[in-house]
Amino acid sequence: MRIRRAEARDLPSILAIEKTCFSREVAFPPEITTFLLEEATALVAEDADAAGFVIGFVNGEWAKVVTLDVLPERRGEGMGRRLMEALEREFASQGARAILLEVAVENRGAIDLYAKLEYSEIALIEDYYGPGKDALLMMKRLQEGGAPTP
Ligand SMILES: CC(C)(COP(=O)(O)OP(=O)(O)OC[C@H]1O[C@@H](n2cnc3c(N)ncnc32)[C@H](O)[C@@H]1OP(=O)(O)O)[C@@H](O)C(=O)NCCC(=O)NCCS
Repeated sequence: MRIRRAEARDLPSILAIEKTCFSREVAFPPEITTFLLEEATALVAEDADAAGFVIGFVNGEWAKVVTLDVLPERRGEGMGRRLMEALEREFASQGARAILLEVAVENRGAIDLYAKLEYSEIALIEDYYGPGKDALLMMKRLQEGGAPTP
């Protein structure tokens, strides 16, 4: 498996993976994914074909993970962890000092992954994904020292 920057030609695979990983209400619409592919930092994990991807962006000293998706049949192989670690290196090289992400409170697998990568739970955001669908806000500092100014 290798991890590389996503390119425009990856759009169909990325849209297909997003559709497999999230319900229609939660999945990003194709226009948003297209925009993110052009404007944000996007990485794909692939063997012959793309099997997972991650997208995020940096704004000053803060970075944000927008989405992380691994095909169901490829989960548990370390792909999610490797995509996140590669994205963190990209973030650091772009000057980020801390990373934020949101995850659904019931998404235990993703929360476990982020906890293993040393993200801390910093807030509960009620109704983030719709009525009654709460999110955890998680944060990781990339460098020692004080938190960046929000
Ligand atoms: C969450 C997701 C990206 C994890 O991808 P993955 O490739 O299976 O994760 P990894 O194999 O790299 O797992 C890394 C660690 O996370 C933990 N983990 C991952 N999925 C888990 C699960 N379902 N249950 C418990 N722990 C889990 C494992 O303990 C693993 O620890 P280890 O490295 O010590 O073995 C994947 O399940 C997915 O795409 N889910 C649907 C989309 C989603 O929920 N994305 C996150 C949105 S915020």
